[in-house]
Amino acid sequence: MAKILLTGGAGYIGSHTYAALTEAGYAVEILDNFANARDDVPDRLEMITGAPVKVHRVDVLDRAALDAVFASTTFDGVVHFAAKKAVGESQKIPLDYIETNCTGLVNLMKAMEKAGVFRLVFSSSATVYAPTLDWPIPEEAALGYASTYALTKLMGEQIIQAAAHADARWRFGILRYFNPAGAHPSALIGEDPSDIPNNLMPYIAKVATGELPELNVFGNDYPTPDGTGVRDYIHVVDLAEGHVQSLNALMKGEGSHIVNLGTGQGYSVLDMLKAYERACGKPLPYRVAPRREGDLACYYGDPAKAEALLGFRAKRDLDDMCATSWAWVSRASNMRG
Ligand code: WQD
Repeated sequence: MAKILLTGGAGYIGSHTYAALTEAGYAVEILDNFANARDDVPDRLEMITGAPVKVHRVDVLDRAALDAVFASTTFDGVVHFAAKKAVGESQKIPLDYIETNCTGLVNLMKAMEKAGVFRLVFSSSATVYAPTLDWPIPEEAALGYASTYALTKLMGEQIIQAAAHADARWRFGILRYFNPAGAHPSALIGEDPSDIPNNLMPYIAKVATGELPELNVFGNDYPTPDGTGVRDYIHVVDLAEGHVQSLNALMKGEGSHIVNLGTGQGYSVLDMLKAYERACGKPLPYRVAPRREGDLACYYGDPAKAEALLGFRAKRDLDDMCATSWAWVSRASNMRG
């Protein structure tokens, strides 16, 4: 049984990927500093998978600790999520983001190299694409960054490719996500923001539970069908399964790949709000607010390459995302605090 180190495995996408990897037959160990994850996520993952969860409470900035993890057993590959990921925060503390997301990646790759581990699946982002009016966005589109968060993901991609250019033993899967949403069908893991969420679905979820009074719709005068922003929301379980397919390709000795993980389908803010109303069975209050700085009207990806190379195709729709999110947030035991 191939053994995988899953960094950031206690986080939102990481924990769902843990469940998908174990379901696919991989032995998985989690490395996480729990800076952005609840301590009880491994316990919940044990409830989902029915097996104990091995956790290394390590920070990717601790090179010696990373070496010790790789010395403790033989890994066949790494799926790397551990990073800071809040776009707004990245503008306030850029050096912390570059240190964790880039220096942390270099530390990880040097520890891998020392241990002779050269298969790496990297959590990248659609934010590495330069603003564009050409949708759906293909992988060949121009790259750029509008935030330090996006810069660190773009740098991460370049770091990995530079290493692979110098040493052919590296095999990588760079996965560019659009907008992850939803939760695990067990309602035991899901998106769990500790403060007021920036992203749309967790914000709507807090309106649905009554923690927030109403949704602020950031602009309804965009050149889109209903005037509100359009994005490519992808169910987090589809996203997790995409990571399994990326790793499977690397384990089979196939070449490195850079692919979008999206649905190719755009949904507006109001589409999401209406879908969430269907999920929770009640109307949700909102007001139209000014546009948010830096937002684009429309942003969704072309998933054709991921399907051609990995056999990836998103299976779940907006109603699935909202129904699983509602099941997760409406279970009182899941609420933080
Ligand atoms: C979606 C739409 C908003 C909140 C972000 C980041 C990054 C990336 C994906 C990792 C937009 C509107 C939102 C609200 C609203 N993740 N909105 N009211 O900005 O597309 O991308 O997530 O790489 O984190 O780039 O996602 O969920 O913030 O916004 O009207 O309270 O919802 O204007 O049109 P975004 P989002």
